Amino acid sequence: MRDFKVEEFRKDFPILSETVHGNPLVYLDNAATTHKPNQVLEAMRNYHHKHNGNPHRGAHYLSVMATEAYENTREKVRKFINAARTEEIIFTRNATESLNLIAYSYGMNFINEGDEIVLCISEHHSNIVPWQKVAKAKKAVLKYMYLNSDFRLDMNEVKEKITDKTKFVGIAQMSNVLGTIYPVKEIAEYAHTKGAVVLVDGAQAVPHIKVDVRDIDADFFVFSGHKMLAPMGIGVLYGKKELLEKMPPFLFGGDMIEYVEEQNTTFAELPFKFEAGTQNVEGAVGLSAAIDYLEDIGLDKIHEYEMELTAYALDKMKEIPYVKIYGSTDLKNRGGVISFSIEGCHPHDVSSIVDTYGVAIRAGHHCAQPLMKFVGAPATSRASFYFYNTKEEVDVFIDSIKNVRRWLGYGS
Ligand code: ALA
Repeated sequence: MRDFKVEEFRKDFPILSETVHGNPLVYLDNAATTHKPNQVLEAMRNYHHKHNGNPHRGAHYLSVMATEAYENTREKVRKFINAARTEEIIFTRNATESLNLIAYSYGMNFINEGDEIVLCISEHHSNIVPWQKVAKAKKAVLKYMYLNSDFRLDMNEVKEKITDKTKFVGIAQMSNVLGTIYPVKEIAEYAHTKGAVVLVDGAQAVPHIKVDVRDIDADFFVFSGHKMLAPMGIGVLYGKKELLEKMPPFLFGGDMIEYVEEQNTTFAELPFKFEAGTQNVEGAVGLSAAIDYLEDIGLDKIHEYEMELTAYALDKMKEIPYVKIYGSTDLKNRGGVISFSIEGCHPHDVSSIVDTYGVAIRAGHHCAQPLMKFVGAPATSRASFYFYNTKEEVDVFIDSIKNVRRWLGYGS
């Protein structure tokens, strides 16, 4: 295990020493994507220098090495999220593709007319739109669980919305807008008493907190590599074997084939059944190095430190009278994502102005328009932290948002 020394971690990330508009970069858009440490970049470079080949094809050395690299990552991911079996880990391009795979392969085949699909109102579009498609195609009913005034989900609401008719429940473990960490284990336990299948979107959780899919008892669980130090283009779908086995393939061709005749085809076993075409081995190698990096620091320490930064930022933001925070200010069951607005200023103006100070934050609807409508804001600004951020960076961010209204012609 490494000592928790942020200045040491920062040395691993070349981009964090860059300047933007003449100012040191302050990167607070980690919920959108994270930066890559030298260890991840080096692992991918080494793969291309020594081992690049097409996996699962051919018996030559490089193909075997590529296969080993890819399959070793699958086993590493299994351990990382504590899945029971390696074949329950399917590689995809990202969490969105994993969600689409579940909707098309499970939803379109096992959800029927009159069945209910229950989602949380704060879901990312990627965990809403595919279910709208399923609901329309199968004449199922799409329902939402709404949040209380502290941007949290009460179990009363969960119990009201999940009924005997519910066949599927989809919820993010942590909201990409509010930072709320939802009680997914309790929700899954309740949903299972009604016979529903539970999907947990872990895209915002896995990079920041220790996840155990068996403890949650999720039937499906998805996440993306790029939000946890790995490159873009590699994602994970975990599914319980008994569900994955009965689901038909999503994409056809390449590795997912067993035998092809002129008129008929048989498909490969899990996990290959869901991995069509040449796979992203370089991405898997990067993901493997990213998991090593995170585990070397420890996810509990990462979360603890991020919550220190969040508390520090929230305390300062609460003192600014024209700043409104969208999300709980109670640190319990919360992550390091702070959505906010500045009275009288459009979030895009806020983001553009703080950018001139070198501060990167996201503005907009954060791919969660139903949530935006629910909280009554068409858009917000959002700062999101990772373990490589510092209190000094939070200070720069706070100073930069204090300047926004002045730039836009307000007195203060
Ligand atoms: N889903 C990513 C975000 O919240 C892109 O920014």
